[in-house]
Amino acid sequence: MEKTEQLYEGKAKKVFATDDKDYVIVSYKDDATAFNGLKKGTIAGKGVINNKMSNFLMQILEKHGVETHFVKELSDRDTLVKKVSIVPLEVIIRNISAGSFAKRYGVDEGIVFDEPTIEFSYKNDELGDPLLNSYHALALKLATKAEIEKIKSMAFKVNEVLKDYFKKLNVTLVDFKLEFGKTSDGNIVLADEISPDTCRFWDSTTGEKLDKDRFRRDLGGVEDAYNEMMRRLMGGN
Ligand code: TMP
Repeated sequence: MEKTEQLYEGKAKKVFATDDKDYVIVSYKDDATAFNGLKKGTIAGKGVINNKMSNFLMQILEKHGVETHFVKELSDRDTLVKKVSIVPLEVIIRNISAGSFAKRYGVDEGIVFDEPTIEFSYKNDELGDPLLNSYHALALKLATKAEIEKIKSMAFKVNEVLKDYFKKLNVTLVDFKLEFGKTSDGNIVLADEISPDTCRFWDSTTGEKLDKDRFRRDLGGVEDAYNEMMRRLMGGN
């Protein structure tokens, strides 16, 4: 399928229409931002890695019964996906304290939780993606009760599948952000991407950070970290 007009340009991806109204093409860029767009940069080759890695992981999830927007990888940077309306919630699962959790609650990074946590933020750049709970999401009519329940159970399922998968690669899945979309027939599917932009990956032996925190925190070795995750997951293909 071919791209027709550009529908949307986000911080890390563009979305194009196709000649079928039920499908769009996402095109991954090397652009990186952090802190709600305040910090800007480029991570060379990121678009290719995130495209391939996200598609690879979504196919694993599909095998485990998690429905996703993924249809077909078209090229290094482009993927055909189901057209969905994105539920304006960022769904964050955490297995270990890090990032905004550690900051908000004044705890160290690296505390392993007995049970994973889930949190939502309202996907709204002007407001800086404020944290909210499911009652707030309902009050704001961001999703129905049934949709929120489905999203919660899908998010925990994604965590179980990916945590086990990454463990075999000597990678600890610390936390990640998911987005869900609604297809034209009202079905909730996993959308957006799963990549080092949206997950925290720590080497299980050394604790080395293998994700976008290297960019957010100016740790250096950003491209190397993305390449290393790609190598572990897909053998560098
Ligand atoms: P946080 O600790 O900054 O709240 O981030 C939690 C996880 O969500 C982490 O894996 C990075 C990811 N994330 C995004 O994908 N997009 C965002 O805009 C933010 C703030 C975090």
